[in-house]
Amino acid sequence: KQTPASRYFTDSQSLPSLRNRAVFANKGNFGHALLIAGSYGKVGAAVLASRACLRSGVGLLTVHVPECGYSVLQTAVPEAMCLADEHPKMITGVPDLSSYTAIGVGPGLGKAQETVRMLDELLLKLGGKPAVFDADALNILADNPEWLTRLPKNSILTPHPKEFTRLLGRTWADDYEKLDLLRAFCKRYSVVTVLKGQHTIVATPEGELHFNSTGNPGMATGGTGDVLTGILTALLAQGPPPADAAILGVYRHGEAGDRAAARKGEPALIAGDLPEFLHW
Ligand code: APR
Ligand code: MG
Repeated sequence: KQTPASRYFTDSQSLPSLRNRAVFANKGNFGHALLIAGSYGKVGAAVLASRACLRSGVGLLTVHVPECGYSVLQTAVPEAMCLADEHPKMITGVPDLSSYTAIGVGPGLGKAQETVRMLDELLLKLGGKPAVFDADALNILADNPEWLTRLPKNSILTPHPKEFTRLLGRTWADDYEKLDLLRAFCKRYSVVTVLKGQHTIVATPEGELHFNSTGNPGMATGGTGDVLTGILTALLAQGPPPADAAILGVYRHGEAGDRAAARKGEPALIAGDLPEFLHW
């Protein structure tokens, strides 16, 4: 039996590019992303993901936040359109999805019962739409593992190691076992998994493993994962194969972190710096 490829990804390979925008392009050519993020006390997660999404080439962005996040979002991210949930503190409903080309869900959501129901409804309504699942969306999936089979094929999941152990319902003895479990998980559910950390791994449903070469410990600070979710949702909205979007997005996210650290020093790096240092 042949083991699928694994490789270390660097800029010298031909990562897909966003650079060559057609001269007569308009915003309709670059997709419309929907981010579903935030809860009372965690609206910042929605702001960070939104800023990163807008810095990653998307044509239009709509953000669905709890009612308490509406003014925050409109002020902090004027380029984004905003949908306020009926609930003051959490997201309980799913908007009409027909106009969106990709959806990112999870940063700062919380796990209230109403939000769990929202995710159930979202899985029902997604159809085959490209989607990114992060943070509490993953924790809710871990609490309802039978829902994993309802994920659209080639969805991108972005767990950190703790979130991944929750999704698996177990831990691993060593790195070899971790990689085996990661391959098996992607194959079983036909998803792309971005296992975050130093040398983030992008794993495909075919069992390929891609190891990232960018990033630094300055990025070990709250909110940098939310930034990645914004980037990946923007890329998916523009239509590339999800595994390519994940490889490119993870690479540029780490590169932005490396630029921010070079400018400010690792301890001074905060998540809000990363969108400012993205360069495509
Ligand atoms: N070297 C390189 N990259 C790193 C390092 C490191 N030492 N440490 C962290 N990173 C990168 C990871 O690869 C990932 O892209 O920073 C990002 C951190 O993402 P998360 O772990 O999701 O952290 P974040 O989302 O910012 O923190 C708040 O914690 O428990 C979660 O879900 C909760 O979303 C909430 C989150
Ligand atoms: Mg996170």
